Amino acid sequence: MTELLWQKAGIATDERIMRFLAGDDVVLDREFFLHDIEASKAHVEGLARIGIVSEAECAALLGELDALGADFRDGRFALDARFEDGHSAIEARLTERLGDAGRKVHTGRSRNDQVLVATRLWLKAQLAGLAGLCHAVAGVCLARAADAALPLPGYTHLQRAVVSSTALWWAGFAEAFIDDAARARDTLTWIDANPLGTAAGYGVNLALDRDHTTRALGFARLQVNPVYAQLSRGKFEIAALDALGAALLDLRRLAWDLSLFTTAEYDFVRLPAQYTTGSSIMPNKRNPDVVELMRASYAGVAAARSEIEQLLSLPSGYQRDLQFSKGALVRGFARGLAALALLPDLLTRLQWNDAAMRAAIEPAMYATDVAIEQAVAGVPFREAYRAAAATAASAGEGRSPQASLAARVSPGACADLRLAELRERWARLAP
Ligand code: ARG
Repeated sequence: MTELLWQKAGIATDERIMRFLAGDDVVLDREFFLHDIEASKAHVEGLARIGIVSEAECAALLGELDALGADFRDGRFALDARFEDGHSAIEARLTERLGDAGRKVHTGRSRNDQVLVATRLWLKAQLAGLAGLCHAVAGVCLARAADAALPLPGYTHLQRAVVSSTALWWAGFAEAFIDDAARARDTLTWIDANPLGTAAGYGVNLALDRDHTTRALGFARLQVNPVYAQLSRGKFEIAALDALGAALLDLRRLAWDLSLFTTAEYDFVRLPAQYTTGSSIMPNKRNPDVVELMRASYAGVAAARSEIEQLLSLPSGYQRDLQFSKGALVRGFARGLAALALLPDLLTRLQWNDAAMRAAIEPAMYATDVAIEQAVAGVPFREAYRAAAATAASAGEGRSPQASLAARVSPGACADLRLAELRERWARLAP
């Protein structure tokens, strides 16, 4: 390992202890490295503005930080076990190439605010990605809600309940993912605050130009208080995972529908062939593995949230425990976004089996229509309900799914989906 930033004379480092301290941290830092470099550039500019580094040193440092970023992207620079973490790697490179200018870069900052700012930028990017994916999913659902509506049995308790439609199903998931896109954006706005310049969590005896770094890094505001900056580590990660979890909960229920609807017992839906797999032993099988893994992806997101929550049983101020939040965060987002990313295409190409859906609509499913028609004619609803219950088996006489759907005029229901309203909200959330 390169020389440790905090190495003291006379204290030898123990390899096993170092491995435990650093663990996979330097590998995880690859995920945050470009953001760390970006924030380092803003910090260097800030230092130049208060005369800690000269204009020439500033230019050299910015150039070298750009070069490091390019080398990292192109694979010429590996962030590996030679370094304790990404932060040390940046300082080591700047010092190696620029000497004293590199040795000045850490003036007025700590790895504590450095990891905070890199993570904050990463979270913003992930939430923007989440919002974009939810928007894309909602867009497909909205488009498919405008397809010719096919009758679909509506279930409660998994028992046949009333006639519904594919359009209502699509519009339902459209509104869900519009909400999820909005939640991702709101969360992004909520965490859009700059922690850089809070140093170890107590500020420094330097008039750091924090307003400059806030602007340069594109933050909406300053995270003012250094103690709060440290308190927000983990808290903001949880907020982001909650936003991701909201979308994954909707995905889980959608995937559940698809896994049921693709069984021979329902047979309502045909998935695009690429989204199904065969069995290694049963030649007859086509399995909906992709939707099952989509359904299971919520577990990874919830686990990440829970792991970070467990870590946060801490007093104020930086504690090394927080390092473990990074692995959970990266894994949670990777899993959740990967599941969402496949959804637009799958939904675009999903096919309904009109005949099977019609066959599953039984006469008793019109009983609610019958009772309400009687109530409209003046019979007290409870009385109409009892009469309809007694004759439920013949409720379908002279009725069709289309007529039932056409009469479902309550706002939002099959005859009044209010797609224009949903589309308007959706359009306002465009990335
Ligand atoms: N790897 C550390 C983390 O993620 C970086 C901050 C280290 N700070 C410290 N004081 N040891 O938390």
